[in-house]
Amino acid sequence: MTGLMRLPKAELHCHIEGAVAPGLLHRLANRNGIRLPTAMFAPDGRYAWTDFSDFLDAYDRASECLRHPTDYRDIMYEYLMACAAEGAVYVEVFSSPDHAAAVGMSYAGHLEGLAAGIDDAFTETGIIGRVIVTCVRHLGPQRAVEIVGSMKAEPHPYVVGFGMGGDEHRFVLADFVPAFRLAHEAGYACTVHAGEVAGPDSVRQAIDLLPVSRIGHGVRAAEDPRLLEDIARRGIVLEVCPGSNLALGLYPDHASHPLPRLIAAGCRVTLNSDDPPFFGTSIGREYAAAAKHFGLSEAALLRITETAVDAAFVDPETRLSLRQQLSGQSVRAH
Ligand code: ADE
Ligand code: ZN
Repeated sequence: MTGLMRLPKAELHCHIEGAVAPGLLHRLANRNGIRLPTAMFAPDGRYAWTDFSDFLDAYDRASECLRHPTDYRDIMYEYLMACAAEGAVYVEVFSSPDHAAAVGMSYAGHLEGLAAGIDDAFTETGIIGRVIVTCVRHLGPQRAVEIVGSMKAEPHPYVVGFGMGGDEHRFVLADFVPAFRLAHEAGYACTVHAGEVAGPDSVRQAIDLLPVSRIGHGVRAAEDPRLLEDIARRGIVLEVCPGSNLALGLYPDHASHPLPRLIAAGCRVTLNSDDPPFFGTSIGREYAAAAKHFGLSEAALLRITETAVDAAFVDPETRLSLRQQLSGQSVRAH
């Protein structure tokens, strides 16, 4: 590893179902006797999708090929190994039991696979992985409550938090207060996607109604200076995914992306890949792009890693050992 690749990184926002590289999906589909429609892929072999709603469909179609706990093991293992190769020391991965249930896999079965991938990658590289169980917003608040029910009934040491992805235009956040309250009362830290495809009001509702310490994306908060002040004052951490935002057309280029304004307003930010093979992202590429396009120094990037470790939903002992790992770093200020 050279230069920036050596800089320690931590990722808090990546969806495991969205992290399956097309090559691995072909292998899993073969193994599971599934014929993948050619329309799933562009001529260059990447996933084909056109806009946010088509992306969510493509993501659902890919996740239908994950049929067994070992499939989840392989995805988690390969993803964490790729992150470790780019210098990541800690990765929190979103996983959606609804996608596992859609192919008949139990909550416990899908976690067993994820945990095996986490253990194998840790043994080989020392990278630490954890899971945030997510509900899918467009499946509605009742399913969200049921998922928290599984988290409470079948606790797993690697499940450290609760979150929500899916279509931000469906339902209102107030509908999900019961699920988030249940998760919070059960001791799970919470994050929610807001201010990605919907505007700053969505972030305002998230921080006012839900017990969240982090917001997935939150970039549209940049359109409301009062909201930015509140986010900064309350120390809420934004899981920013610039490459994903560009791929989905939220902003035409890095020059129009609000990350520098979020930082200037005093918001705590992290860098993340979201759904790497769908968006052409990776944790290493996000750090490199932030250096190139936002002018962030290695010291500033290391502070972003420190923010991610501080905001991670991991247990205190692991956080302490990650902090110690980071404090031994010497980096260039420019
Ligand atoms: N699920 C996977 N990726 C997502 C995204 N970028 N926004 C909302 N839900 C998602
Ligand atoms: Zn996301």
